[in-house]
Amino acid sequence: MSQRVKIRQVLQDDSTNYEVTVKGWVRTFRNNQFIALNDGSTNNNLQVVVNEAEMDPATFKRITRGAAISVTGQIIPSLGKGQRVELKTASLEILGDCDAEAYPIQPQKQSLEFMREIAHLRFRTNTFGAIFRLRHALAFAVNQFFHQKGFVYLHTPIITASDAEGAGEMFRVTTLDMKNPPRNEAGEIDYKEDFFGRSTNLTVSGQLEGELGAMALGDIYTFGPTFRAENSNTARHLAEFWMIEPEMAFYDLKDNMDLAEEFIKYVIRFALDNNREDLDFLATRLAEEEKQKPQAERSEMGLIEKLEFVLNNDFERITYTEAIEILRNSKPNKNKKFQYPVEGWGTDLQSEHERFLVEKHFKKPVILTDYPAAIKSFYMKQNEDGKTVRAMDILFPGIGEIVGGSQREENYDKLVARMNELNIPVEELYWYLDTRRFGTAPHSGFGLGFERLVLFVSGMTNIRDVIPFPALRRTRNSKSNTPDVYTKAGALKRLLFHFMEIPMPASYCQLSKTIQCV
Ligand code: 4AD
Ligand code: MG
Repeated sequence: MSQRVKIRQVLQDDSTNYEVTVKGWVRTFRNNQFIALNDGSTNNNLQVVVNEAEMDPATFKRITRGAAISVTGQIIPSLGKGQRVELKTASLEILGDCDAEAYPIQPQKQSLEFMREIAHLRFRTNTFGAIFRLRHALAFAVNQFFHQKGFVYLHTPIITASDAEGAGEMFRVTTLDMKNPPRNEAGEIDYKEDFFGRSTNLTVSGQLEGELGAMALGDIYTFGPTFRAENSNTARHLAEFWMIEPEMAFYDLKDNMDLAEEFIKYVIRFALDNNREDLDFLATRLAEEEKQKPQAERSEMGLIEKLEFVLNNDFERITYTEAIEILRNSKPNKNKKFQYPVEGWGTDLQSEHERFLVEKHFKKPVILTDYPAAIKSFYMKQNEDGKTVRAMDILFPGIGEIVGGSQREENYDKLVARMNELNIPVEELYWYLDTRRFGTAPHSGFGLGFERLVLFVSGMTNIRDVIPFPALRRTRNSKSNTPDVYTKAGALKRLLFHFMEIPMPASYCQLSKTIQCV
């Protein structure tokens, strides 16, 4: 294979009049002369100029939208408008043909909903190219931030027996034959016969194992896939999402909040500094989308402005109790505009309440602390008031909760008492409790939902558009699995193929014979 140069490099290079080989996919072919070639290294296309008279006619005919080609030629100053340089073709090879009529990706704008139906091809559009390069940059920045601070990247288990959040939203992993499972004397399924000799599930959080690491290594973070069989089919929930969970010994709640704020600002700054082209593209996309909305619903800031705003302003920090007071006295509450009216202390906040606080009242990110114990997880440090715990949630405009975290209860007796109250089996979590038995210390941590971060930075509005292969709950009303893309493209051939809207990552399917919801 000849050495190829990436288009990003060609476009960045100031020099001209040199020979290159580029490889990519034809985005458009205009006037039988100008190919817009994209290789995924940047959203910008390289203009490739071909001269029909000098080409083999059979090859020429095969230059179609979507085809993969290799071109060698001279980079010269462009004669036309819109680009600084272009590639004058000396030789062109078709690597892979594409029947442009049947190809579902059309040159005109196509809806995001339609793109979700052809998720296997959507990487080939400008919007999804920009999103997934941005997602990569943010993931890289996450690792760089913690590495620079001396944190250890700890890989916590994906198959586990623990329900870290105690919320029972797990996907069971088993090798038992579910058509004819072994049963114990009581007639229940006997998981002693299962692969691990017990019932196991996909992890909902790496936190508890992360705490074990922090209580020896000092500062650790996890960054991996997590799974929740939640019933909420919203624009902000996935059944499989990626979470970053730092855990720090000797941190109190304030240290925890400071770290979370610094971390979020760092990764946003990184994206602005390193992915400006993609962000500018997404900003333009968002501005066009906003124009379709009625004036009153349009956002006051553009995407770049919004990101700069987050960087330049301190997050507001208030307690849950203060938030309830603000909400109780708010106009929408008094005018009965909330679907869930805010009456008493103790109820969980709904997303309409979170959005009011962030988007209308403070108009910036808000950190809410000291929630009622009853609505938070068992491991959170209990406050002296006997009612609240040292929890913190970070709420973001347009997103709602982006981070959930807390200082942890380090006192063995208090933790065991709370577990007993909630019927959490103390014996099964002996390993977790050992951190409190042997050299316990104050410590804290938080979890940031990676897709919610990508959602915020990209300005997209649906979480399904910022993860390559969204896994969602399938409801009875879900659309058919067979997208009708081929008729849409106007092709005669109507191919029926069974493409899952939600391709389960093969690695997980192979882990077990059955992945079922428990
Ligand atoms: O608030 P959560 O449930 O907290 C935990 O799991 C803790 N163990 C974290 C910790 O302290 N180490 O989840 C943390 C974050 C949420 O704030 C949200 O951003 C994201 O994970 N998240 C989801 N993202 C997409 N889809 C879902 N179904 C999500 N559930 C939570
Ligand atoms: Mg939470």
